[in-house]
Amino acid sequence: MKITPYLLLAIASTASSVNAFTPSQRNARSNSLTEIQSTVVPAPTRDVIRQQQPELGEADLYVNPPVRNPPVPGSIMKMLPKNTFDIDTPTSLFYFGIDLLAVVATMGFLDIVVTSANYHALPMWAQALCVAPLQVLTGFAMWCMWCIGHDAGHGTVSKSNKSINRIVGEIAHSAICLTPFVPWALSHRKHHLHHNHLDKDYSHQWFIREERDSLHPAIKASHFTRNLQLPILYFVYLFLGIPDGGHVFFYGRMWEGHSMKEKADAAISTMVSLATAGALWSTMGFSDFTVVCMVPWCVMGFWLFMVTYLQHHSEDGKLYTDETYTFERGAFETVDRNYGKWVNRMSHHMMDGHVIHHLFFTKVPHYRLEAATKALKEGMEEAGMGDMYKSIDTPDFTQEIVKQFNDNWFFIDEKQVVRE
Ligand SMILES: *[C@@H]1O[C@H](CO)[C@@H](O)[C@H](O)[C@H]1NC(C)=O
Repeated sequence: MKITPYLLLAIASTASSVNAFTPSQRNARSNSLTEIQSTVVPAPTRDVIRQQQPELGEADLYVNPPVRNPPVPGSIMKMLPKNTFDIDTPTSLFYFGIDLLAVVATMGFLDIVVTSANYHALPMWAQALCVAPLQVLTGFAMWCMWCIGHDAGHGTVSKSNKSINRIVGEIAHSAICLTPFVPWALSHRKHHLHHNHLDKDYSHQWFIREERDSLHPAIKASHFTRNLQLPILYFVYLFLGIPDGGHVFFYGRMWEGHSMKEKADAAISTMVSLATAGALWSTMGFSDFTVVCMVPWCVMGFWLFMVTYLQHHSEDGKLYTDETYTFERGAFETVDRNYGKWVNRMSHHMMDGHVIHHLFFTKVPHYRLEAATKALKEGMEEAGMGDMYKSIDTPDFTQEIVKQFNDNWFFIDEKQVVRE
């Protein structure tokens, strides 16, 4: 596509230079008429082109379009409804309460089924079939609750009272979602500050496709087995600390520069997670704990991975380096995804309001994202920058993540990296 203007130029320069030929040249041309007719565009001579334009090298044909700058957050704020930045604690707590009910009801029902005499009378395959839909449902309820803990991590449950954010976060994330609240909020904040930065982003790792042959053997092995990993990637992320650092054992890049005091505070969250898991395990026994809690936890982890991956990966997505990164450029590489009205709603607009979330991650609570996103879309169009806002309908999200992860894994093409 990029070649087209040059091709047109070449055609134009040939056409305009026909009269510049000397009579003998013209004769030479008509002598080789048959040859010319067989060619679509007669190739102009070098000298003729030089008269029209400077000589082009290979690199000129593939030069990147200039990097555009999205509007700064200050001017985006003016596009949004006035109440976008109102953090209303009762509203936040209302959604927290709804999701608490949803998790207790689905998980409670699953537990009743699993501990019933009828269930125990079934052969194993029938037991698995009978609990699978309930596990998917419980996992989805946990995912919705996960989104509430996510707001708490950004301090958008209460603007002024840190203890409210902390309490909601410890219950929603550390206890219910077995996601240590403070460690996760820490690594997640680093993701927000460096979204779509080639080396400094968190939660995402990026490998350049062209360099695939020179990757470490362990990374190659991970790529080779990628399709088996989808349900356990969240465990690998939190527990093994790949790639950001441990959220249960504190090591790795996310802890660099953090004091013992911060780590001790973060350890409280990890303690809450371990104590919850330990208490459930010892009360229910290992097998029921696995069926009722851990399989739904993997479903929740799958949701988190799917949503996170799809909203930061798109065909034309760009990555930036220290030389080219700005907060706004990174934010506008986020993709809003429409999973369908009810899934969007129940997931608290995590997927369809994510551009706004990235622009104002400590300022806009989840229940303002939908209206703000609509206003952003309109505002950007009015400003003539509608194409900078990315939004993709993804109703077949589960097929999409499986396909994307199989095709692309954590690879991006070199041409997607904006280096200068
Ligand atoms: C913050 O909220 C907690 C729990 O509701 C309450 O006990 C505490 O007094 C509040 N703190 C402030 C500074 O308002």
